Amino acid sequence: MRSPRFVQLHQHDEASVRAELAAGLLASAPFTHPKYLYDALGSRLFAAITELAEYYPTRTEAAIFARHASDMATFIPAGMTLVDLGAGNCEKAARLFEVLSPSRYVAVDISVSFLQKALQCLQREHPGLDMVGVGIDFSSQLRLPSETGEGPRLVFYPGSSIGNFTPAEALAFLRQVRQASQGGGLLIGVDLVKPLTVLEPAYDDALGVTSAFNLNMLLHINHLLGSDFDVRHWRHRALYSVEKARIEMHLDAVQDVMVRWPGAQRRFMRGESIHTENSYKYTPQQFEALLREAGFSSVRQWRDTQDWFAVFLAQDAANSQAGGQAQGRDNAKN
Ligand code: AVJ
Repeated sequence: MRSPRFVQLHQHDEASVRAELAAGLLASAPFTHPKYLYDALGSRLFAAITELAEYYPTRTEAAIFARHASDMATFIPAGMTLVDLGAGNCEKAARLFEVLSPSRYVAVDISVSFLQKALQCLQREHPGLDMVGVGIDFSSQLRLPSETGEGPRLVFYPGSSIGNFTPAEALAFLRQVRQASQGGGLLIGVDLVKPLTVLEPAYDDALGVTSAFNLNMLLHINHLLGSDFDVRHWRHRALYSVEKARIEMHLDAVQDVMVRWPGAQRRFMRGESIHTENSYKYTPQQFEALLREAGFSSVRQWRDTQDWFAVFLAQDAANSQAGGQAQGRDNAKN
């Protein structure tokens, strides 16, 4: 039996994390990056969110894969390297192993420690599959280490996490993915524009799990920055902006508060807020156009019966028929 290999690339030291957090908190419109929602507890709270009746994306995407994965596979050559972005427990990708027959599985997450258990467990079920765990923060730049090998890669980016990027950032990211795919392709889950009455409860559930998820970011920041946020002084708020086509999550101060951390402090007046996350929604046409703008010339999509969620397969037409012989056939589009 093979054993998984692990590579951790440290792009961000603790000092630059603190500097980034402080800059956001001191801005005239305070904000934090949504990646800070995910400490150990935050990841568990997110897992709980995916089980809520109101949070439709996870189960809707799973239904699309359950129904259409074998159709998707007819457009994906066997023997590719499957690169799973934000792999976490590796569950979603593992469900595709049988139908996609990859030759290598590369699980990417911000920290390899998140991947260790999952990959070791998965290796037992798939003893012959080459597995690599990579710890990188791909939100700023997607650069895969040489351990992930040559040849075409199918980049798998499920869960509609692309929604955390602005459309302009998403375009830049998709261009990087196209480069990184080495003539392979991208399989991506995208949450679609839909009525407010469905969107808002998904991000403001009756049990308050999303509220706890959002508030927990303050505890994570206290840990990273040495700040003294008191969760009791803040309240979760989610809204959908129709013009911007995005869910916004905020934390509102419920009273005047002073937050201190080594080197600085900030006063928040009652009602002032910290913008903690955006989750952009797309129409199928908009996202297809974005993929084409990023240089993908062959785009296919599968949706659920309510048109709430879409899975896109994006490839370079020159390579999509070529299977394993795709190398060196990039016709320099863009
Ligand atoms: C993990 C970014 C896809 O935007 O739906 C869920 C995060 N935030 N509830 C999303 C999230 C609040 C989620 N993504």
